Amino acid sequence: MTDQTNCSPKSAAGKTTGKKVKLTIANAGKEVTLPVLEATEGADIIDIRTIYKETGYFMFDPGFVSTASCESKITYINGAKGELKYRGYPVEQLAQHSNFEEVCYLILYGELPGQSQLNDFRRSLREHAALDQTAIGHLLNAFDRSHHPMAMLMAGLAYLAALYQNEIDVHDEAYRRLTAHRIVAKVATLVAWIFRHRCGKKFKQPDPGLPYAHNFLQMCFDDLDQNPRRREKFVKAMDLILVLHADHEQNASTSTVRLSGSTETSPYAALVAGITSLWGPAHGGANQAVIEMLDSIVNSGKPLEHYIKRAKDRKDHFKLMGFGHRIYKNYDPRAKIVRETCHNLLQEMEAGNPDQALLETAISLEKIALEDEYFIKRKLYPNVDFYSGIIFKTMKLPSDMFTAIFALSRAVGWISHWNEMMSDKHTRIGRPRQLYVGSQERNYVPLGRR
Ligand code: SDX
Repeated sequence: MTDQTNCSPKSAAGKTTGKKVKLTIANAGKEVTLPVLEATEGADIIDIRTIYKETGYFMFDPGFVSTASCESKITYINGAKGELKYRGYPVEQLAQHSNFEEVCYLILYGELPGQSQLNDFRRSLREHAALDQTAIGHLLNAFDRSHHPMAMLMAGLAYLAALYQNEIDVHDEAYRRLTAHRIVAKVATLVAWIFRHRCGKKFKQPDPGLPYAHNFLQMCFDDLDQNPRRREKFVKAMDLILVLHADHEQNASTSTVRLSGSTETSPYAALVAGITSLWGPAHGGANQAVIEMLDSIVNSGKPLEHYIKRAKDRKDHFKLMGFGHRIYKNYDPRAKIVRETCHNLLQEMEAGNPDQALLETAISLEKIALEDEYFIKRKLYPNVDFYSGIIFKTMKLPSDMFTAIFALSRAVGWISHWNEMMSDKHTRIGRPRQLYVGSQERNYVPLGRR
């Protein structure tokens, strides 16, 4: 496969801006000067790598709200402006003009592919889409159909880690490229087969003649071609959702992949860690939690205002799932894009659809929250998970499959960040510090004298 760009972007060890920051350690009468690292976009960053050596202090930042764990060229988010760019390209333009296969190439290699590069990449993904039906069948049969797809997906990646365990060579570019193609290709087949296992249906083989999103849906559904017009709408909506979820900087699951991958473990194993993190309802599990929240609202018979009140009550753990974001303190640009698709699919819904009440509740909730002072003041807008959950619902996908589809899309982001990290010669094993507030040293007391 010939690429203009190699798969391992050269990394600087942080380009300094010439700007400096002086830190005064008052009680020690010391002053420390720290270099500032230059960002291409967004905030420059104070380089605190020598802070302990120079001051005897570490920096405290639970949840990494204010500190950068790495430098990266892959994705840039501006939370205040509601901007998201993959390799410099605004996600709005990619959503309108591109497709998931092309976006995978862009995120992996850093540049939009030419036609021959895209053809080669597509061919490679189709070559690697196959999975051993017997092995995966045995693996999934260990799970009850009611078990969560994310647990099955973790097992699937763990199986691939074992299958390829004798090839691990994380510093070899060819190994990293092969692994990236295998993961992007196989994760679609794996998620589709998990869906089929949970429906009690036989696996369907990938179709090398179909584009990625269409191929995924044809591996899931038997009746996809019965209604070509609906099929086109679903394929377009799925491709859009895959594009919009492909990467998102150093979110919890990507940071988990980086931290576990920094030990030079199998990249397939590092992705198991990412899947684990994404499963949480505060992160990728939100799209499932949105539908479950809407279901419980509809079934409770209580007015929406009751739930809005609970969401505002600090003493109540209830939150409006699908609202708010750690970074976007403006509208999630992905939500803005996918909202239109969501509303179009809702209009298409045939009358008497069993999900009518749930979907109407979603639209009413969106309207109330967008007009409510509590949400406006805290900039809690609907995020991408609010709308993607509703779109999957119109596709009649079970809500506990939603996060597995999120993982299907985010796999390219995870493996691209892993690749970027492993190709950077400055990479070291991740090892955060802590503020120890436990007992001071004390001597052991024998049992009889306690
Ligand atoms: C994803 O990081 C990423 O990039 C993630 C992601 C990706 O692509 O990888 O974008 C995917 O995870 C999207 C987020 C999906 N999660 C949800 O929709 C779950 C519901 N949202 C909340 O759990 C919450 O908004 C978080 C977890 C998303 C953000 O949590 P933060 O950063 O702690 O929220 P905050 O500091 O902005 O909260 C400020 C205030 C607090 O109240 P006060 O202390 O001011 O009184 O807003 C409140 C919060 O309690 N608040 C909410 C709320 N979210 C925040 N109140 C009600 N409902 C909510 N959803």
